[in-house]
Amino acid sequence: MYSQQETAKLQELTDRLLAGTKDHPFKKNEIEQLRDVLRFHEYRYYILNDPLIADFEYDSLYKALEKMESAYPELITRASPTQRVAKGLTKDFATVQHLVPMLSLENSYNADDLLDWDRKARELSGTEQIEYCAEPKFDGASISLIYENDLFSRGATRGDGVEGDDISTNIRQIRSVPLSAKFSAYGIQQIEIRGEVLMTKKNFRMYNDMLAEQNLPPLANPRNAAAGTLRIKDPKEVGRRNLEAFLYHVSYFTNTDEHTEINKALRTHSGCLEMLWELGFRSPQKERKILKGIQAVIDHCHEFEKHRDDLPYEIDGIVIKVNEIALQDKMGMTTHHPRWAIAFKFKARQATTKLKAVEFQVGRTGAVTPVAKLDPVAIGGVTVSSISIHNEDYIKEKDLKIGDSVLIERAGDVIPQIVKSLPELRTGLEKKIFFPKHCPVCKSELAKEEEEAVWRCINIECAAQAVERIIHFASKDAMDIRSLGDANIRKFFELGFLKDIPGIYQLPFDQIAGLEGFGEKSIGNLKAAIEASKQQPLHRLIYGLGIRFIGETTAKVLANAIDYLPDLKDKSLEALQNLEDIGPKVAGSILKFFQVSDNIKMLHELEKLGLSLKSDRNTKATSGSLDGYTFLFTGTLTKLKRSEAEEMAEKNGGKILSGVSSKLNYLIVGEDAGSKLEKAKKIPSIKILSEEEFIRLVNK
Ligand code: IVH
Repeated sequence: MYSQQETAKLQELTDRLLAGTKDHPFKKNEIEQLRDVLRFHEYRYYILNDPLIADFEYDSLYKALEKMESAYPELITRASPTQRVAKGLTKDFATVQHLVPMLSLENSYNADDLLDWDRKARELSGTEQIEYCAEPKFDGASISLIYENDLFSRGATRGDGVEGDDISTNIRQIRSVPLSAKFSAYGIQQIEIRGEVLMTKKNFRMYNDMLAEQNLPPLANPRNAAAGTLRIKDPKEVGRRNLEAFLYHVSYFTNTDEHTEINKALRTHSGCLEMLWELGFRSPQKERKILKGIQAVIDHCHEFEKHRDDLPYEIDGIVIKVNEIALQDKMGMTTHHPRWAIAFKFKARQATTKLKAVEFQVGRTGAVTPVAKLDPVAIGGVTVSSISIHNEDYIKEKDLKIGDSVLIERAGDVIPQIVKSLPELRTGLEKKIFFPKHCPVCKSELAKEEEEAVWRCINIECAAQAVERIIHFASKDAMDIRSLGDANIRKFFELGFLKDIPGIYQLPFDQIAGLEGFGEKSIGNLKAAIEASKQQPLHRLIYGLGIRFIGETTAKVLANAIDYLPDLKDKSLEALQNLEDIGPKVAGSILKFFQVSDNIKMLHELEKLGLSLKSDRNTKATSGSLDGYTFLFTGTLTKLKRSEAEEMAEKNGGKILSGVSSKLNYLIVGEDAGSKLEKAKKIPSIKILSEEEFIRLVNK
């Protein structure tokens, strides 16, 4: 898309414009240069995944363009990078007709299916050996885009294949879809392109984490997340979800001259993909392969399946297409699918099974979670027999009944989920799921807060909660006392050997020694693991306390903000909210925990038993390349988890600060950085780095 020369020129222009953002307002005739530069950097970031400037530099250029456009509104164009942002909400999506019906694909599952298909293809086309183009079968939501006179003019969902919904405003939010593209260079005035909108696995995980934080059930897979997002009526929210698009098929174009050299390129499918890539689209580029004959295709499919999980997005197979468009035309199509393409489906990660019963489990916060017990079924090498069904609303929404056939899915590394029930397979014997009114363990009445979907046991003494709290405290990401294990904790609790968290450090080993399976060696290991946990850093202890909404990252922020854990009881709601990433909900939860005197008593008990409640923030190892330097992270990091980035800095001798001040050496800015960045810009001694620059600094 951009030659080396053009890249160098645009980078030079970037530097000049960046310098300009500080010194003087731009001139009217610089507006198009600003746009060119922004488009170039969007391409580097969203298509190539290889940015050349820091996010905040992009932001300052973007803001400069916004400023110019508000000063000279007559110069705004539809394809300006600022024009992705929509004003207001979408009412209803209009129904629109596709220029060419969006057909589906025939499926194949093994080598024999492909051999059969190839035989028919050779017969139909009258060719001895066919050249195929193989590319991933992207597992997202299907879209079609129209460009007219080099401008994006419409984006639609697949719908019934003939008509879909006009989702142009939402498509404009997807940064890898160019708002303008020079199709005229190929003699094309109007073109319709098909593709798939995806949510990467990483963004999907972040999205589900966000749902979990709000006590909402997760989505089953990135495909549902992408399809759901495309239907949202708030385009800004669509923008926040960071969708991506792969374009893989040119379905229609008006062509001026068939005989030019350029149009020869469009005589093959791979040539069309090449054109899309050249024009700045994300089309399968590294991901596609030209293969001669079906055996090469079969080998490629098997090889690709092995590496399926290495991709940052989900794919569910390979699509094989006859590469010559003339041959495609000769082969034609059925009413459902083209005869010149086939999908090779990877091993399913979905399966149907029976929902046999529902059990209700009580968690450490008292939340009562229904768990579906299933007829065991293998999906992608794992046998699934029980799945959380989250809450009462979820059961209603999915229309689940005991005895139902259900479709379940294990997408990549996501915990298996029920995708849907299959009511068409009901026999009439299915039973409604009744949510209990009382705690299944302590029998006290359950309660539900107004804005919540979760029923809770609010009896502090509830045995189930006590056990779950101990299990969480000992878990891998908290105090990491692995040899204690869930089963032992339950057993010790039942036998009265362990009733609360401090009890871990007072276990009656003389009595445990009498239990079956507890020899000298295992007791020795257990003792050592418990003893070792006393040295865990404070943030792990804080996380282990299981305070609602306090995940690992917030626990680190808290550990860094205090000298002595019980001091948190004296912090005000405002003081807590001033800490990084702590909003009113989290601050309220911390306050609530530290206001309960029994909780403070428990902390002092732990202290007496040999655990430290002091922050280790001043005693961290300070040896490494970042020795003596201070760091602060702001905005959303895209490559590392915040906690990982902080750990990286600390491991190399750096120190994490909680706010911007002249003591700060480095501010690392992620996406959507806000006030901290603004404040840091006013202190000249602070170096502002992008995430990539930070990683480079650590690796130096
Ligand atoms: S080509 C006329 N290529 O799979 C041929 N489809 O199960 C149009 N899909 O409806 C389709 N990746 O939504 C094509 N590389 C790819 C694809 C792909 C995913 C989807 C597409 C299609 C569905 C069929």
